[in-house]
Amino acid sequence: MRAARCNAVGGPVVVEEIPEPVGEVPVDVHFAAVNFADVLVIRGTYQVRAEPPFTPGSEFAGVVAESAHGFATGERVFGSVFVGAFAERVAVPATSLHRIPDAIPTQRAAAFGVSHATAYNALRLIADLREGERVAVLGAAGGVGLAAVELAALLGAEVVAVASTEEKRAACVKAGAHDVLPYEDLKRGLRDSGGADIVIDPVGGPHSEQALRAMRWGGRFVNVGFASGEVPRLPLNLAMLKGVTIHGFDFGGWARHDRDRLVVTRAELNGMFADGLIHPRVHAVHPLDDVAMALTLDRRAIGKVLLEVARGV
Ligand SMILES: NC(=O)c1ccc[n+]([C@@H]2O[C@H](COP(=O)([O-])OP(=O)(O)OC[C@H]3O[C@@H](n4cnc5c(N)ncnc54)[C@H](OP(=O)(O)O)[C@@H]3O)[C@@H](O)[C@H]2O)c1
Repeated sequence: MRAARCNAVGGPVVVEEIPEPVGEVPVDVHFAAVNFADVLVIRGTYQVRAEPPFTPGSEFAGVVAESAHGFATGERVFGSVFVGAFAERVAVPATSLHRIPDAIPTQRAAAFGVSHATAYNALRLIADLREGERVAVLGAAGGVGLAAVELAALLGAEVVAVASTEEKRAACVKAGAHDVLPYEDLKRGLRDSGGADIVIDPVGGPHSEQALRAMRWGGRFVNVGFASGEVPRLPLNLAMLKGVTIHGFDFGGWARHDRDRLVVTRAELNGMFADGLIHPRVHAVHPLDDVAMALTLDRRAIGKVLLEVARGV
């Protein structure tokens, strides 16, 4: 089969012929999403290492290639893996797979799994979002950010989206944001517009402290990533004085330590997806052969970037 391969730490990533993988449920991949973590895994800077040679890619949607573990040949599914998704076929544990609801195109399912689950867990499991609360989302037009905007609005929050360009902020309004802000003078902008009970931060860098300084009493600050490349150091007195709690959410950690609760939130989220309430935005779809370009992570992207691995259904 054809697969993207990383043959040395740092890449390059090239498409090669390799043997088909062996595992519980074989799936023919139609679309795979490009995630920030894929790039870190290739660079060797992710918290978990993959030893080259390996096939990068952590999120996919396609069809079951052969009946196994309760899944039937031809069923449309989406799922996630640590590596291996940028290939014509993956073979994964049945617990990593979810059926795609009938009305939902395979392409859209490929853009749903990771970002929305990250945002939903950050909002529900970690921040315990209550209706009417004010949620500020940094990097709000990125994969995780746009999902957080959409889901927080769906859960009854008043959403403030923080993003770098007019085009991105307009997309956030379309996804459900009630208010938008640029990063410039973020503390004042956020405070003047009403502050935030919850901050969802996939960006890090200097913006984290600015957002923390604009939080309301009793707020919950949830860090989910560092897209800016900078891990911020936050003054703890701000948390003390504002009664704010600072949390982190990392999928891998939760999957290892408290998988049962992730299963519950996944079922809630999949239910909303099946009900047509969630609309992941696909920014661009590239052929597998353009994997190296897709992995450059164009900051202008709004929502998800996908690879088309085979003919879509
Ligand atoms: N904790 C978890 O389980 C988990 C799960 C998924 C992802 N993540 C992490 O969350 C972060 C965001 O992931 P994502 O999928 O949303 O990424 P993404 O789609 O690439 O979006 C990242 C956003 O960050 C902002 N940004 C600020 N500085 C940037 C820079 N120097 N380069 C690129 N973007 C920059 C951009 O928005 P502006 O232009 O508006 O600033 C961009 O839209 C990553 O660190 C990822 O590893 C964590």
